[in-house]
Amino acid sequence: TTPTAVRIVEVGPRDGLQNEPKLLPASVKISLIDQLSDTGLRTIEATSFVSPKWVPQMGDNAEVLRSIQKKTGISYPVLTPNLKGFDSALEAGATEVAVFGAASDSFSMKNINCTAVESINRFRPVVEAAKKAGVKVRGYVSTVVGCPYEGAVRPTAVANIAAELYSMGCYEISLGDTIGVGTPGSMRRMLDEVVKVVPAKKLAVHCHDTYGQALANILVSLDYGIAVVDSSVSGLGGCPYASGASGNVATEDVIYMLHGMGIETGVDLEKLIMVGRYICHELGRQSESKVNRAWKGA
Ligand code: HMG
Ligand code: MG
Repeated sequence: TTPTAVRIVEVGPRDGLQNEPKLLPASVKISLIDQLSDTGLRTIEATSFVSPKWVPQMGDNAEVLRSIQKKTGISYPVLTPNLKGFDSALEAGATEVAVFGAASDSFSMKNINCTAVESINRFRPVVEAAKKAGVKVRGYVSTVVGCPYEGAVRPTAVANIAAELYSMGCYEISLGDTIGVGTPGSMRRMLDEVVKVVPAKKLAVHCHDTYGQALANILVSLDYGIAVVDSSVSGLGGCPYASGASGNVATEDVIYMLHGMGIETGVDLEKLIMVGRYICHELGRQSESKVNRAWKGA
C-alpha cells in the first residue's frame, strides 16, 4: 500500500556535485548544506570519503563535514568505500555512512576498482567498525536496472547484492538506477525480486532522470510500500563512472508530486526552490527541475 509519508534523502551535495568538473569552493558546499538543513529535510548526504584522485570534487570532504551546522533531527551521511574512508569520516565527525555496491561487475570495476563480490568483502569491515563506533550504515546497490557497460541487469543479481548488504547490517538499502534507463516495467520486475529478500520498509529508490522516467519509477515504487526516496536539489548530478548518466531526479519535482498525492514529506517546497536557485546560480546553469523553473510563488 502507498505510504502516507515519505522521507527524502537529499543527495545533491554529494551525487549532485561529484561530477562537476570545476572545483567548487568548500564554502559554497557548506552554505548549500546549511540552507538545505533549513527546509525540513531529515537526511542530507554531505560528501564522500573516496580517493581525491578518483573524484577531485570531494577532496574537501573533511572540511565540509566539519564545518556544516549540524541540526538535531537531521542525519548527514557520507560515502565510505573502504576502511580508509571510514576512518577519515569518523575522524571528521560522521555519525552515518554509506557503502556502495553494484549489481553489475563492469560498473563496480570502473567505480570502485573491484568486482561486486569483492566489494562486499571490503564493506564487511566497514560495517563492523561502524557498529563498534555506533555509526549507522546505509547500503547502495547501483545499476539496478541497467549498466552502462553490460546493458540490462538481472533482477536476481540486484536481489543478491541487496540481501548481502542487508544481512551485513545496513539499516536501509538504496536501489540506484545509476544511468536513469529504468521504466515502470523494469522497475517492477526488479522490485518483485528485491522485496522477496529485503522488506519494502527497508528500501529506498535512487533514480537518475536520464530518460525522463524517474517520477514514474518512483510512483511505481510507492505501490510496493517503499517510503524513502533519494533525490537531488534542482536535479544536479551524474556519476563520473557512468558515461551519459544525467542528474538525479529533482527534489523539487518529487516533493511537488508527493504533496499533490497527499503524501507528507516535512519539506517546505518554497524554501527548497530558493536553495535550488542558489546552487544553480553558483554553478552558472539553469535548474533541471521543471517545478523550480515554473515556480512563481505559493
Ligand atoms: P583503489 O585504487 O583500488 O584503492 O581505489 P587502493 O586501496 O589500491 O588505494 C589506492 C590509493 O587510493 C592509495 O593512495 C590510497 O591511500 C588511496 P596512494 O598510495 O596511491 O597515494 N585511497 C583513498 N584515499 C582517500 N579516501 C579513501 C581511499 N581509499 C584508498 N577512501 C577506491 C578504490 C574505492 C578508493 C576508488 O576506486 C575510489 O575512490 N572510487 C570513487 C568512487 C566514487 O566516488 N564514485 C561515485 C560515487 S558512487 C555513485 O555515484 C552511485 C550512487 O549515487 C548510486 C547510484 O546512482 O546508483 C551511490
Ligand atoms: Mg547516484
